[in-house]
Amino acid sequence: MIPQRMIDEVRQSSDIVDIVSDYVRLNPSGRHFKALSPFTQEKTPSFIVSPDKQIYKCFSSGKGGNVFTFIMEMEKVTFPEAVEMLAKRAGVDTSKYQRQKAKQEDKQESSQHETLRWAARMFHQTLESDAGRAAYAYLVGKRGLEAGTIRKFGLGFAPEAWEFLLDTARRDNIPVEQLTALGLVTRHRERNSLYDTFRNRIIFPILTVGGQVAGFGGRTLSNDPQTPKYINSPESAIFEKSKLLYGMHAAKNDIRKQETAILVEGYMDVIAMHQAGFTNTVASSGTALTRYQAKILKRYTSRVLFLYDGDNAGKKSMLAGIDILLSEGLTPWVVLLPGGDDPDSFIRNYGKEAFLEELESKKSSFQDFQLRCYRDAGLMENPDTASKAISAMTKSIALIADHVQKELYLEELSKKLDLSRQTLRKVMASSNDDRASRYESRNLNRQEAAQEPQAGQQPLSVSERTFLEALLESTSYGNEVLDFAASHETMFTLEHPAARAIFTHLVERFRAMDDKEGHIDITSEISSISMEQARNIAFDILIRLPVSQTVRPSTAELEQHARRCLTHFLVAVKNIMLEPLQKQKLEIIAQLQAAPSAHEQERLSKELHEHNQQLRAMEQEVGESIRGILGK
Ligand code: CTP
Ligand code: MN
Repeated sequence: MIPQRMIDEVRQSSDIVDIVSDYVRLNPSGRHFKALSPFTQEKTPSFIVSPDKQIYKCFSSGKGGNVFTFIMEMEKVTFPEAVEMLAKRAGVDTSKYQRQKAKQEDKQESSQHETLRWAARMFHQTLESDAGRAAYAYLVGKRGLEAGTIRKFGLGFAPEAWEFLLDTARRDNIPVEQLTALGLVTRHRERNSLYDTFRNRIIFPILTVGGQVAGFGGRTLSNDPQTPKYINSPESAIFEKSKLLYGMHAAKNDIRKQETAILVEGYMDVIAMHQAGFTNTVASSGTALTRYQAKILKRYTSRVLFLYDGDNAGKKSMLAGIDILLSEGLTPWVVLLPGGDDPDSFIRNYGKEAFLEELESKKSSFQDFQLRCYRDAGLMENPDTASKAISAMTKSIALIADHVQKELYLEELSKKLDLSRQTLRKVMASSNDDRASRYESRNLNRQEAAQEPQAGQQPLSVSERTFLEALLESTSYGNEVLDFAASHETMFTLEHPAARAIFTHLVERFRAMDDKEGHIDITSEISSISMEQARNIAFDILIRLPVSQTVRPSTAELEQHARRCLTHFLVAVKNIMLEPLQKQKLEIIAQLQAAPSAHEQERLSKELHEHNQQLRAMEQEVGESIRGILGK
């Protein structure tokens, strides 16, 4: 358990807008900020962040929460890990809370994330120790890295030995099963023995956007052609290579500032680029660019400069990547490096200035790049292949969602090919029939599906909603309403399970409070409701409330608000208490109208009469208690 005071301090030192904008591009919208949801595939922004309330709500997935739940979602970490990460980020000194923690930590198994962090530290220390002297010399001498760069990227070294990491783990009490689970150690099938996965390799820790170690890439130092040049951590829930961009943690702020991301292929390319001052560079790490990676980029910028290797494989990857970027609403640009070079080798061979010159003079639009590739390959010389190439280019244009841009690119292409726009449009329409449109409709369906309420998720009734609204809002003006709720709990018949969960949670929390006049931090109370649906509904209500936690109204205003709130609450309470009786009344009336016999009619009218009396008595009773409370 983390001490509550530490949680509070971390939350108060973290700003939701600041934290969320590490992951998505936020645009101001009234008192809120809006963005494309990082949780879904949506195309229109429905993700709202409220700086006043320090919460967020995603209207396409229903998810809502505060800084902690956001980090838990984005970084796939547990609550304590999220607190840790945010503490570090906000510069909160957690050592003062640490004494209690240390005792537990010995017993507690360290989590996978901690083990990854530990391994990164071990590899890095080894690189900077005697055992890493040759590897260090290679990085500095052969690859031109500076000491600061090696540290910035936390580069490491795994020695030649079979049991280096294993032995270190035994020394540090790290469970070996964790190393196997993370793929840092491999089991030898026949001998049933364990050995280090990474041996005689430079280690590149691969971090999430938030700076968590997710896995490792390792480049061999051996010249043996049998040894694979790179190996990576195996895929797992923590390490999904296709969903990570190498260097994103270091590059995100500059990508946002410069409004462009530079996309390269390899680990070494990212590192060399950053060292040369191009700090907005990330790598897709050898795989073809994935849709997921494009989405990550889209959270920070809408322009991407492709700077893959100048060979054929690089060209092919860029051609494929262009369509992925376009369909995610990004504008690709391309710089084609000379034949055998990648950005790392180019900078090393010709220097920073020559590289900058190359970037500025060789930058071309994605369309020029496509045309150049097809021309170089000789496709444009023969009508049959030319038609295929042109069709591919119009397909790319068809992926652009912005109508004006689409039209402009079409016009460009028409000029470049000396073909009428009408002809191109026809080509586009026919190719639209197949791949592109199928893709788009699939995407749309997925989006709609995400917006549908989940099965078994019936909506709240109006009075339940009003009731919860008033209850939540009231907590900003004191505990009077909660106090009333806690002492009249049995009077409430909330039908919706989520409404019940929210209500009981708050009442219980209020009962547990020592100082009944103390302030309830409603946002964190809600975050700790265990039923997810209830949490989401509560955040949904909270984000729509016209309350601000940062702008404090005058005392008179406050009292007025508090009173209005209490009134709302009591009206809702009245409805909730009377609703079941009113429903029954309507049922009896319906039965009466359909009564088959006079005898039956008589029985039902009697029942209705009795019921009405009961209802009136109840109304009176509730009304009186309400007047009593209000008159206080
Ligand atoms: N890669 C990988 N696994 C492989 C091969 C490549 O993950 N088996 C990824 C790595 O991220 C690598 C990138 O693909 O950085 C590019 O590969 P390559 O061009 O072969 O290597 P370089 O990064 O250029 O490495 P170096 O300059 O050290 O030769
Ligand atoms: Mn290289």
